[in-house]
Amino acid sequence: MQLPLRIDPAAGKSLQLQITEQIRLLILDGRLVAGARMPASRQLAQDLDVSRNTIMAAFGRLIAEGFLVAREPTGTFVAERVAPEGPALLPLVDARPSAAAEQRRRRRLKFRGEAHEVVAPHGHELEFDFWVGRPDARLFPLRHWQALLMRKLRTGARHLCEYGDPQGVLALREAISAHVGATRGIAADPARIVITNGIQEGLNLLAWLLIAPGVEVVVEDPCYRGAAHVFAGHGATLRPVAVDQDGIDCAALPAAALAYVTPSHQYPLGVTQSLARREALLAWAAAAGAYVVEDDYDCDFFYDGAPLPALKSLDRNGQVIYLGTFSKSLGAGLRIGYMVLPAELCEPARKAKALLNNCQPWLEQAALAAFITEGGYAEHLRRLRQLYAARRNHLCAAVTHGLPEWRCSGEGGGMHLVVQLPARGPDAQAVEQLARAHGVGVYGISHGNARLWNVGGDAALERVLLLGYAALSETEVSEALLRLRQAVGTGVVSEG
Ligand SMILES: Cc1ncc(COP(=O)(O)O)c(C=O)c1O
Repeated sequence: MQLPLRIDPAAGKSLQLQITEQIRLLILDGRLVAGARMPASRQLAQDLDVSRNTIMAAFGRLIAEGFLVAREPTGTFVAERVAPEGPALLPLVDARPSAAAEQRRRRRLKFRGEAHEVVAPHGHELEFDFWVGRPDARLFPLRHWQALLMRKLRTGARHLCEYGDPQGVLALREAISAHVGATRGIAADPARIVITNGIQEGLNLLAWLLIAPGVEVVVEDPCYRGAAHVFAGHGATLRPVAVDQDGIDCAALPAAALAYVTPSHQYPLGVTQSLARREALLAWAAAAGAYVVEDDYDCDFFYDGAPLPALKSLDRNGQVIYLGTFSKSLGAGLRIGYMVLPAELCEPARKAKALLNNCQPWLEQAALAAFITEGGYAEHLRRLRQLYAARRNHLCAAVTHGLPEWRCSGEGGGMHLVVQLPARGPDAQAVEQLARAHGVGVYGISHGNARLWNVGGDAALERVLLLGYAALSETEVSEALLRLRQAVGTGVVSEG
């Protein structure tokens, strides 16, 4: 550790006193915390260009005052309790902003945005959590991943010491190009791919490129909250359009510069956009000179036959911006996603990515490239698909038998089920609370990271629950369903 000490030979104070006073202050204002190890006296002497005796004398005095403790043979540490006669502790962060700070905030703070819920809000207090979009961490290919990381470190560690291409590691872009070609029908030149810190960063880069205050953006109603907040945070005017069983209604799309859609498995309602609607959406974009952002967040999971190819695969005019992620198939902690861009957006996106964070971390990109090209990823997906399909079937059957008034949909793909609650009885918010009291997490649309405007005034949407099932085994699903039955039974009794 290097301490921020400044020695001034012209200060009119001995070097020892200057060092003593500054360390004392660092401890008192909390910048050196209780238990922190002090640098070795030899090292500190070298850093400050003073004799080691000077440091030893300063440490000796601080030990005598109770600020430091010597623990032989390990070293010198900040004392757990600082001498009470010292001056009052100065908090590092002001707990209550002053009037001046508040005024500064109002005048200067440009960002007025909202954010979605990134971490499951009640995870720690729930035994069974149907939090949406969470893969099962127990199924992460840990051994394989460890081996890939070690191999990449052995052969390419120099990349850890260098910046990489802001567009992403070429081997990964090539691997993704082959993957989306085979699985999503997208012809993606690696030069058109930008690796991102998940889809969320992709959305931000696009907003930076395309959204100025007042720009109109069509969004699905309901819509993924993380996207709605990004666009709104950049000043866009959102134009929500209702979703039915065929996806976003394309009959009367308003004029806009951009449409953000989730055609494969609409978030959150789980419907798949029909081919006719896809064609209508592309025709609208061509007429409006608009871009369509296709968020294909959970497309790796389809259970009943082959999925429809991506909307991007139908794009003959280069209007569709495709966003993919490894957050669902591997894990959100990896933070790797990608964009497939129309030609004219590649260079601007590359520049924006460079300005934002120079580049993505190299190691995980390199490991993932090998995982995909050597076949490990396809094998992992096959295994997950089988397991998640069994979990989905189990959950659907358990709901049908245990809670027959609940209607399931959205089960064709993805990682969550959409449940329509009956018109009578507790609504989604009430069921959420009842379930939580029984140790089970279920989520209404708004608490499931979706933004609902309900432009169509559909009362049924207030009675929709989202159940993410991928992270729960069949046994866990059974137990959770028993609890849910008890919870809802309790609700009906207490209401009646
Ligand atoms: C519809 C949708 N898009 C994007 C994301 C964000 O994905 P990423 O982790 O790649 O940023 C999520 C996360 O759950 C999502 O549900």
